[in-house]
Amino acid sequence: MRTPLVAGNWKLNKNVPESCRLVTDMLPGLQSLPGVDIVLCPPFTSLMVVSILLEGTGIYLGAQNMYWEKEGAYTGEISPLMLKDLCQFVILGHSERRKYFNEADQDVNQKVKSALGHNLTPIICVGETLEENEAGRATEVIIRQIKAGLADVILSDRNQLVIAYEPVWAIGTGRAATADGVELIIRNVIRPVTAGILGESIAQAMRVLYGGSVNAGNAAEFFQKPEVDGALVGGASLKVEDFVRIAQFASQK
Ligand code: PGA
Repeated sequence: MRTPLVAGNWKLNKNVPESCRLVTDMLPGLQSLPGVDIVLCPPFTSLMVVSILLEGTGIYLGAQNMYWEKEGAYTGEISPLMLKDLCQFVILGHSERRKYFNEADQDVNQKVKSALGHNLTPIICVGETLEENEAGRATEVIIRQIKAGLADVILSDRNQLVIAYEPVWAIGTGRAATADGVELIIRNVIRPVTAGILGESIAQAMRVLYGGSVNAGNAAEFFQKPEVDGALVGGASLKVEDFVRIAQFASQK
């Protein structure tokens, strides 16, 4: 009942010509895939050109971050009004934003509310650090991030919500979490906590992705799990064959 979703997070990679090339190379493999939603998240500077290349393809566009204010004296920021006609999705609260740019749960919450208010679907990232994991605090951290991120959120009929479980220790390390472990976290923590805030039907309809060293070799195993609705892919989303392969696996889910 939940359509699988595969999102490619390009991070701080690809200038405009490189973005055009990557999308053009991927399109033949991605375009014809049934039963999967695909989202490309290039850097801000490439959103315009990628949106043109994606026109009519059915592939979605996402931003990697956003500020919550609509306009004003906020040098260097990008507002939901600037994104809403270009993108359908926006990644919020990625661990790299939290770590390098001091984004707190409250900032993520403001961004989530602002994105929803402008009909952008937030892909809210949650996940524990290695230190928190080793201290047995993973569940506690995920609960805190979801509760804070979704505080005072009211969903309209047009709104959708996506959560990406991305354990920080698995991101870019080549050391993915186990599919069984991810399944348990989603089933026992992420959906019930979301249900407690937004209700059971929204929690069941919401897509929950796994992210952290997903590649063409391990994606299928994650997608076999009933609770894993897709993936947020970093490094492998920059490799045409790998990303297409991952999207193919999701399409077979
Ligand atoms: P990775 O990144 O696939 O390179 O581990 C995932 C992410 O940060 O979203």
